[in-house]
Amino acid sequence: MTLPMTVPAPGLPTRVRIHEVGPRDGLQNEKALVPAPVKAEFIHRLAEAGLTTIEATSFVHPKWVPQLADAEELMPLIDDVDARLPVLVPNERGLDRALALGAREIAVFASATESFAKANLNRTVDGALEMFEPVVAKAKAKDAGAAVRGYLSMCFGDPWEGQVPISQTVSVSRRLMDMGCDEISLGDTIGVATPGHVRELLDTLNEAGVADDRLAVHFHDTYGQALANTLSALEHGVTTVDASAGGLGGCPYAKSATGNLATEDLVWMLDGLGIETGVDIGRLTATSVWMARHLGRPSPSRTVRALSQKEI
Ligand code: HMG
Ligand code: MG
Repeated sequence: MTLPMTVPAPGLPTRVRIHEVGPRDGLQNEKALVPAPVKAEFIHRLAEAGLTTIEATSFVHPKWVPQLADAEELMPLIDDVDARLPVLVPNERGLDRALALGAREIAVFASATESFAKANLNRTVDGALEMFEPVVAKAKAKDAGAAVRGYLSMCFGDPWEGQVPISQTVSVSRRLMDMGCDEISLGDTIGVATPGHVRELLDTLNEAGVADDRLAVHFHDTYGQALANTLSALEHGVTTVDASAGGLGGCPYAKSATGNLATEDLVWMLDGLGIETGVDIGRLTATSVWMARHLGRPSPSRTVRALSQKEI
C-alpha cells in the first residue's frame, strides 16, 4: 500500500485524538436506512482500525432523524467495543434514554445562529441552551458521571443568515463552557470556513478564556477546505479533530452541508507529518470501502479512492 513519507513540520502537536463521527454524523444523512447490526459492525471495525472515540448514535426524536431511530437496538450490540462511544442527546428525554443504555459520554448540540437553532432544535438559541442546562447538570451528577461535549453549529457561516460574527460564536461557546461542558466542538456545518477565519476564531476564544485544550474542530468539506482548516487549528494548538470515515455525512437540517472531513484524508496528512493517531489507514480504508458497498455509492474521500484503487 502507498503511504506518505514522514516529514514532521514545526509547531504541530505530536499526537491528535480523532473523534470519529461516521456512525452518527455520517449515517444520519444517508438516504439508505442502515440496519443496526451493520452499524454495529461498522463501529467494531472502526475501533479495530484504532479509533478510540467513536460517536455512535443520537437519542433525538425518531421522526426528526429516522436514520438513527434504532439507537435502543444498536447500543447493546456495541457494549463490547473498546472505545469511548459518545452519543448525542438534545434534552432530558434523550439523556434518560441514553443513560438507561449505559452511555458514558454525551453531547448536546447548540447553534451560533437563530435560524439553525430553529431548524435543528425547534428552539431559539437561548431556548436551546435552557433545554441543555438540566441535561448537562444531570449527566455530570455523581450517579450518572458522564462526560459532556457541547457542539456548536454554524460557527463560521449559516445558510440562512450568511456570515456569522466571531463574537456571536464566542459568546455561545462561553455559555456552553459555563454550563459545564467538558469540551466544545466548533462546527463548520456548511463547510465555508477558511484557515485565517479558523485562526481568528481560536484566538478570540482563547482571549475569552476558552483554551485550545478544551476545543475540538468539526469541519464539513463542502468547499474542499476541511484539511486546510484542520492544519490551521493544529498549528494553533487544538489536538482534537472530528472526522468521518470515508467522508460520510452532512446534516439533515442544513441542506447545504456535505460530508465531514474524511478520516482517511486526515490520517494521511497526520501520518505524513509524523503525528500519532493510533489509526491504521489500511484497515480504516477497507472499512469505508465496505460501508460504501452497503450504502450503494462510492466514498467521496480522495484517500479512500486512491488507496482502494489497484496499485500501478
Ligand atoms: P420538538 O418537536 O420541539 O419536541 O423537537 P418537544 O420537546 O415539543 O416534544 C415533542 C414530542 O417529542 C414529545 O412526544 C416528546 O416526548 C418527544 P409526545 O408527548 O408528543 O408524544 N421527544 C422525544 N422522543 C424521543 N427522544 C427524544 C425526544 N425529545 C422529545 N430525545 C427536539 C425538539 C429537540 C426533540 C427535536 O428538534 C430533535 O429531535 N432534533 C434533533 C435534530 C438532530 O438530531 N439534528 C442532527 C444533529 S446536529 C448536527 O448534525 C450538527 C453537528 O454535526 C455539528 C455541525 O456539523 O455543526 C453536531
Ligand atoms: Mg456535523
